Amino acid sequence: MSILSFENRGKWGKNSWRGNCSGHVYKTLFEQYQPRIFVDPMVGGGTSVEVADEMGIEAYGLDLHSGFNILRDSILQRVGKEADMVFSHHPYHDMIVYSGQVWGEPHADDLLRCTSDEDFMEKIQVALLNQRAATKAGGMYGLLIGDLRRNGQYKSYQADCIARMPKSELAAVVIKAQHNCVSDSRQYAKMKHMRILHEYIILWNKPQEVMVSILSDLAGMAKQHSTALRATWKAVVRHALITLGGKAKLEDIYSAVANAAPGQLAGNNNWQAKIRQTLQLIAQPVERGIWAI
Ligand SMILES: C[S@@+](CC[C@H](N)C(=O)[O-])C[C@H]1O[C@@H](n2cnc3c(N)ncnc32)[C@H](O)[C@@H]1O
Repeated sequence: MSILSFENRGKWGKNSWRGNCSGHVYKTLFEQYQPRIFVDPMVGGGTSVEVADEMGIEAYGLDLHSGFNILRDSILQRVGKEADMVFSHHPYHDMIVYSGQVWGEPHADDLLRCTSDEDFMEKIQVALLNQRAATKAGGMYGLLIGDLRRNGQYKSYQADCIARMPKSELAAVVIKAQHNCVSDSRQYAKMKHMRILHEYIILWNKPQEVMVSILSDLAGMAKQHSTALRATWKAVVRHALITLGGKAKLEDIYSAVANAAPGQLAGNNNWQAKIRQTLQLIAQPVERGIWAI
């Protein structure tokens, strides 16, 4: 089932651990994938490992609170062997900062002490690559993460995670309903948008045979992004021509694009050349200095 909903967290782990996850989630994952060896590199109150122990799975729980830092330490070296499944539950909501609040002293590498969303996503990618390296060929790695709305803006962390890992390895995206959130007690009646009441379980399957190295796989993804950027230039210039009636003077096309995206063009000295280049691809010159689609 690609939708999970458990109102109770079950007997596993610590109810008191802020942001803990229902043990039924891990039970479902273990029943589906039948790992022999399991690692949770952000084990928190220990829910996953308790479920695994009960099911006879060899399990390892690591966490910053007990001296393992996923941004500095190799999971594989710490555990000493590859696992069939390496699954983490990332902190993503700045309502709960673990170090200094849930445990110990403030720690700079606590995943919630990030300076920006970009910084946060960079760290999640490092964590996922660390998890992947500790996974056996043919095994599963993944995470539980949610999206959030901050200052009215929707931040889709799950979409960013999927975009930053090899597309060919994405195996499953599961929706998990959220129950008993701290925010349950707040007044939502006047909210403009629908309240977020779900998280995502994202799973990747490390291939049996690694055909290309992870580095060239990620370089391939970077190339796809630059192709997407070229496609965006085409869309922006075509959109400008559409708003100008399908045919326009070059100067008017420059102004239409500049008005539409002043911030993006501010630091780009070549934007007019880029527009001329793009026009060659998507439009025809009908008279001197006039382009049409
Ligand atoms: C959402 S909690 C996990 C809760 C767990 N699933 C449970 O049911 O109790 C996230 C955990 O990530 C840990 N963490 C934060 N930054 C970390 C890092 N850089 N390396 C390892 N663990 C980290 C926190 O200490 C916290 O215990």
